[in-house]
Amino acid sequence: MRRLFSGFAKPDLAIDFGTANTRVVTAGGGVAFDEPTLCCFTKGAQNGHPVATGAAAQVMRERTTGKLQIVRPLNRGVLADISAARHFLAHAVQSSVGQRRLRSFRAIIGVPADATKAERGALLTAARDAGLGAVDLLPEPLVAARGAGLPVDKSQGSMIVECGAGTTEAAILSLGGICAFASRRGGGDALDAAIADHLHFQHKFLIGATTAERIKRELVGLRSEETLQQAEIIIKGRSLVTRLPQVISLPVQDLLPVVARHTDGITKLVVDLLGRLSPELSRDIHDHGIVLTGGSAAIDLVKSALVRATGLHVAVAPDAPHCVARGLQQVLSA
Ligand SMILES: Nc1ncnc2c1ncn2[C@@H]1O[C@H](COP(=O)(O)OP(=O)(O)OP(=O)(O)O)[C@@H](O)[C@H]1O
Ligand SMILES: [Mg+2]
Repeated sequence: MRRLFSGFAKPDLAIDFGTANTRVVTAGGGVAFDEPTLCCFTKGAQNGHPVATGAAAQVMRERTTGKLQIVRPLNRGVLADISAARHFLAHAVQSSVGQRRLRSFRAIIGVPADATKAERGALLTAARDAGLGAVDLLPEPLVAARGAGLPVDKSQGSMIVECGAGTTEAAILSLGGICAFASRRGGGDALDAAIADHLHFQHKFLIGATTAERIKRELVGLRSEETLQQAEIIIKGRSLVTRLPQVISLPVQDLLPVVARHTDGITKLVVDLLGRLSPELSRDIHDHGIVLTGGSAAIDLVKSALVRATGLHVAVAPDAPHCVARGLQQVLSA
C-alpha cells in the first residue's frame, strides 16, 4: 500500500470520527472504542468537563433536565463544536489506550474528502487540544474503499458511495488515490429530520430524533413490495392537537415519499459523478459496479434506486458501517 499519511513515521491509532458514531482503532488491538459521538454538558459550562460522553450521553438524549445539554461535536461530517470535540476525542482515545499519556500517540483521523482547509484546521486543533501527539487526516472514501476490500491500489477504477449520518460521499478510486469525487453534506440524519418534519407538518405530531431514527430503521427494514404497500408503523410521541402523549398508526405508504426524496438526492449525486468519468473509468465501473458503505447503506431503497437509475451492479459491503474503521486498521498495519 502506498504510504497515505505524510506528517510522521507510523501512526499508533486511527479514529473514524463520525457525525453519529466514532470508532477508535489501535495498531495491535482492532476496534477499541465504538460509541455515539455525543457529549452531555452542564448548561453554560461547555468548556468544563462533560457530565457524560458517548454511550452514556446517548441514553440521556432528549431526556435531560433543564440544567443539562446534549451536544454533538460534529455536524454534517465536520466540526461544529470544538470544545465538545476536544473532550470527546480525549474520552474516546483514553478509553482505548488506558491511562497512558496521550501526547505520545500519533493518530490518523478520517475526514470527508471535500473538507475545507478551515474544517481540517479546526479538527487538527481539537485533536491537539485533546492531548494527542502528531495527527494526520485521511479522506474517508479512500479509507472506506480499502475497508470494503476494493482494489484501490490497482490501475482499475472502483466506485464507492459512503453513506454516513452526516455526509454522503461518492468516489472513484484507482492507483491508490481518488480520481473523481462528489458529495452531499447530508445523510441518514437528514432522513431522520425529514421524517420528524413530515409528522410535524402533515400530522401535527411531534417525535424526537431517537424515535425518528427508529421509524426510519423499521421503514427501510421492510423489504418486500407487498409489505411496503400494506404495513403500518406505530409511532409514539406528542399530539400538537391535544398536546398529550399519544400513539398513532401510519401506513408505510405515507412515509415512502419522504424516503424517496432522500434516495433521489443520492441517485443524482451518483449519476452526476458517472457523467464526469473518462471512458476507461466508465468501462471499469460498468464491469465492477458500485459498492455502498457506511451505516446508511442499510437503506435497501437506496440500493434499488441506484440500480434503477444507473443499470449498474450495486452491492452493499459486508459490515458496511465499519468499512472506514477496517480501512484505517489496514493503514495502521501497512
Ligand atoms: N439498519 C439501518 N437502517 C437505516 N439506517 C441505518 C441503519 N443502521 C444505521 N443506520 C444509519 O446510519 C447512520 C450512521 O452511520 P455511520 O456510523 O456510518 O455514520 P457516521 O460515520 O457517524 O457519519 P458521517 O460519516 O456521515 O460523519 C445513522 O444515520 C443511522 O441512522
Ligand atoms: Mg462515517
